[in-house]
Amino acid sequence: MLIQQNVPLAPLTTLGVGGPAQFFSEIHTPEDAIEAIRFARSRKLPVFVLGGGSNLVVADKGWPGLVIKVAISGIQMNDDGEQLRLEAGAGEDWDKLVAHAVEQDCSGIECLSGIPGSVGGTPVQNVGAYGQEVSETIQSVIALDFNTLEIRELSREDCGFSYRASIFNTKKRGRYIVLKVVYALARGGAPKIAYADLQKYFTGAATPPTLLQVRKAVRKIRAGKGMLISSADPDCRSAGSFFKNPVLSAEQFEELTRRASALNLKIPSYPALETHHKVSAAWLVENSGFQKGFGAGRAGISHKHALAIVNRGGASAAEIIELKENIQQKVKEIWNVSLEPEPVLVGF
Ligand code: EPU
Repeated sequence: MLIQQNVPLAPLTTLGVGGPAQFFSEIHTPEDAIEAIRFARSRKLPVFVLGGGSNLVVADKGWPGLVIKVAISGIQMNDDGEQLRLEAGAGEDWDKLVAHAVEQDCSGIECLSGIPGSVGGTPVQNVGAYGQEVSETIQSVIALDFNTLEIRELSREDCGFSYRASIFNTKKRGRYIVLKVVYALARGGAPKIAYADLQKYFTGAATPPTLLQVRKAVRKIRAGKGMLISSADPDCRSAGSFFKNPVLSAEQFEELTRRASALNLKIPSYPALETHHKVSAAWLVENSGFQKGFGAGRAGISHKHALAIVNRGGASAAEIIELKENIQQKVKEIWNVSLEPEPVLVGF
């Protein structure tokens, strides 16, 4: 296993900002992972585990330790007629896995088409879009325990999934390196068309859409929002949504609604957690003076979606963070809502 020094991290992320890793190692097997951890321990280096780099902001000073880039490949299929179990290496490209599932006529992840990043990142932040979350189909996660260097299989319950969260990015952050993920998909299942954008897309269709048609529709909708990676689209040089959609208590929601109706506005919201309301962060950003296309400098807001902060070319992490803070401050001032960043901030 090769350990490199001073490796630039910006090119390994979709946002494209930030400095180098002091040490860098690409791992292809669980044994490589163990060796890399032993190297870090022997030098008392902090470790950061990098997947597809699609949800990260790396600090300008980089990472003062070892970055482990997970490149474990392989997709295995296990079919019992009704369910297809797909066991995928954490380094596999996520969208390739979705394409594979759809080709096999299996439902459960079709709405998650076109999401950038790797398989290993999906359980960490419980990736979700267009009415599906990976927590609905993840059967287990095979991970290396950082403390004991043992490989463990964690069940869906063990993973403690909730909106954009799991034990891997909350109470057990830094404890595990995801090596493989097992998804249980329904053979011949119908696609899920729950999200408004998707329902609108298929309005008037004579027959129910196939899994492949849903995959194509999701990719098209994502492309329209600058959320599909394409070298031709400068609006996709981002880390996806920069803020989580806030989940508000009944009282907080009432206050927000009052503030909005005083201005003759209505905020998009969805019921959440029985008594709570999830509100649109994109709406809050846009209605706090940060319209689509905002910003004259190197860091700005996507022309296609108010929730994506984009690197217009040559931006520093500091410029991205400055814009993030301005947005948070204004949203708090006007709406009394705290926006929480959605990407992982590395080395700050
Ligand atoms: N909206 C605006 N301005 C905009 C865009 C949207 O006001 O520029 C309002 C619209 O009223 C719209 C509502 O916000 O009805 C929701 O917008 P959208 O459907 O684009 O979804 P989102 O809530 O902004 C979430 C996820 C996305 C995911 C989409 C689709 C979060 C933080 N983001 O975005 O995930 O693709 O739903 O399911 O939950 C990501 O996590 O990086 C990500 C891209």
